[in-house]
Amino acid sequence: MAELTQDQIWMRRAIELARQGQYSTKPNPNVGCVIVKDGIIVGEGFHPKAGQPHAEVFAMRQAGEQARGATAYVTLEPCAHYGRTPPCAKGLVEAGLAKVIVACPDPNPLVAGKGVQILKEAGIEVEVGICEDEAHLLNDGFLKAMATGMPYVRLKIASSLDGRTAMASGESKWITGVEARQDVQHWRAISGAVITGIDTVLADDCQLNVRSLKEVDDISTIVQPKRIILDRQGRLPLTAKILENPETVMVMGPYRQELAELGVIQLEIQPLKELLQQLVQLHQIYDVLVESGATLSTAFLQAGLVDELISYVAPTLLGQTARSMFNAEFSRMAEQLRFKLQDVTRVGDDVRFRLIPSQETL
Ligand SMILES: NC(=O)c1ccc[n+]([C@@H]2O[C@H](COP(=O)([O-])OP(=O)(O)OC[C@H]3O[C@@H](n4cnc5c(N)ncnc54)[C@H](OP(=O)(O)O)[C@@H]3O)[C@@H](O)[C@H]2O)c1
Repeated sequence: MAELTQDQIWMRRAIELARQGQYSTKPNPNVGCVIVKDGIIVGEGFHPKAGQPHAEVFAMRQAGEQARGATAYVTLEPCAHYGRTPPCAKGLVEAGLAKVIVACPDPNPLVAGKGVQILKEAGIEVEVGICEDEAHLLNDGFLKAMATGMPYVRLKIASSLDGRTAMASGESKWITGVEARQDVQHWRAISGAVITGIDTVLADDCQLNVRSLKEVDDISTIVQPKRIILDRQGRLPLTAKILENPETVMVMGPYRQELAELGVIQLEIQPLKELLQQLVQLHQIYDVLVESGATLSTAFLQAGLVDELISYVAPTLLGQTARSMFNAEFSRMAEQLRFKLQDVTRVGDDVRFRLIPSQETL
C-alpha cells in the first residue's frame, strides 16, 4: 500500500473526528475539522448535533490566534449560507487561515461550490478531493439526497445458508446470532428511517428502534430513526409494540384517526420511489434501512431502489418450506440481479456481506 501523505494523515484525523457525530447529527451531515500550524494540530472539532456549531467553529475556537496562517482540513466543503449558525467559509476567512483542504465538495444547492468560492476570493489557497472516497462514506445519504433528491437505501437481510429468512409459519427468531443482531443496531442508528412491511410487524411485533450501541453509553444521546410501516390496508393493530413510542412512527396507509391521535405521521399510499422522494423532501430523511420480509425486500430490489445490500448469513439450514429471501420468479439467467462484493466480515458465528448492485454479467 502506498504511504500516506501528510495531508492524508491530517484529513484521516478529521474523518475520525467526524465519525464521532455519526449517530447524532441527523439530518445534518457528519463533518470533522483539524487545524494544523507548523506541523502541529492546534484545533480540532466535529459537528455533534443539528443546531449546534459546525466542526470548523469548534476547531477555530480551540486554535484561537494560532489559526492565523494555518491550514484547515475539513471533511466537507465549508458552508456558505446562514442557517442556524453563520457560514463557516466566512469564519475561516476571518480567522486568517492561509490554506483550506476539503475532502468532499458539498452538492447541497445552498453550498455547492460557494464555500470554496468565498475562501478563494479572500485569497485563501484551497484544495479539494483529499481522501474524498473515505470522507464520502461518512455521508452517503446526505450527499446522495442533495445531489439526486433520493435517499441512500440499505437493505438488510438475515438468512440461513440456504437463503431462507423465516419459517413458513412466519417464525423467524432467531436465524443469526447476538453479534449480528447487535451489528444491525449500527445500521439503524445511522439511518433517518427504518422501513418495514406490515406483515413483519404482524409476525414479529418488532420495534425496530436502537436499543444498544457498542460505542455509546447513553442511548438517549442518539437521534432515533423513524420507523416507517408500509400498511396499505390499515392492518396495524393499536396494541403493536412499535406504537409504544408513536412520535417516531410513520405509517403509509389509509388515514386513521386513531393513529393521528397518537401523533403518528401518516403518509399517503404511493409507489416506493415517490415515497422515498417524499422522505427526502418533506422529512429530511437521507439514509433508509429496509428491514422487511421477502415481499417488500423483493419490491425494493426489483424497482432498482437499493443502493446497498447488507446480507447476514448464518451457518444453518432451514429447508425448502421456509421462506426465501427473494420472491421473484425468474426463468432466464439474464433476469438475475447481480451484486458487486464490497466487503465480507465475520460477525460472531455469522458472515456479513456488503454488496452493491452491479450491471456486469459473468
Ligand atoms: N430474516 C430477515 O432479515 C427478516 C427481516 C424482516 C422480516 N422477516 C420475516 O419475514 C416475514 C414477513 O415477510 P413478508 O414477506 O410476509 O412481509 P413484509 O415484506 O414484511 O411485508 C409485506 C407487506 O408489505 C405491504 N406493502 C406495502 N407497500 C408495499 C409494496 N410497495 N410492495 C410490497 N409490499 C408492500 C404489503 O401489505 P399491504 O398490501 O397490506 O400493504 C405486503 O403484504 C416474517 O416472518 C418476519 O419474521 C425476516
